[in-house]
Amino acid sequence: MTDEMIAVARAHILASGLVNVEVRKGLIEELPVDDSSVDWVISNCVINLSPEKERVFSEIARVLKSGGEMLLSDIVAEELPEWIRSSESLYCSCIGGAISEEEYLQGLTNSGFIDLEVRASATYGEEEIKGYVNTSNEVPPLLSIEGETMSRNDAAEHYSAQLSGKVRNIQIHGRKP
Ligand SMILES: C[S@@+](CC[C@H](N)C(=O)[O-])C[C@H]1O[C@@H](n2cnc3c(N)ncnc32)[C@H](O)[C@@H]1O
Repeated sequence: MTDEMIAVARAHILASGLVNVEVRKGLIEELPVDDSSVDWVISNCVINLSPEKERVFSEIARVLKSGGEMLLSDIVAEELPEWIRSSESLYCSCIGGAISEEEYLQGLTNSGFIDLEVRASATYGEEEIKGYVNTSNEVPPLLSIEGETMSRNDAAEHYSAQLSGKVRNIQIHGRKP
């Protein structure tokens, strides 16, 4: 989050005429928000970028009032190959750092959330995965069945086929008791 992004957000709020909106600069692992002070937490495609997801989940629990709700939209993934997990660019593309839906729900449960429900889920197909993989400069070379080294594009296609159906966008709703 850069100062320029904060400035643009503040300019939009000013232009909208809204007077009850405030922008605070901070990290999701250390929210600049008082304990038990908010009714709702919403987030779209940010938590997968944190290497400390358990800390983020407990921060959400800390700032919500009792009975407060959250709606988190995020990417989850099953059985990612190690090269994707260690790819910096795929981490930044919201795939490399994604955990499984089960781990996500377990992490939220560990932070005390109740009534957890996955309200929407969309699985990425081969073409969508290829779009992500092609942003990486780190697709490793592969050998084709004929023993020829694959082109980068062929390798991307191979991995896209491998990952198809394993990456999803989900929306999780939950409540603090
Ligand atoms: C994929 S974008 C999503 C932005 C926005 N939520 C949306 O729906 O358009 C991810 C955003 O998360 C921010 N981000 C990544 N890690 C963060 C962290 N640890 N704390 C706060 N923001 C973070 C990035 O700066 C970026 O703006």
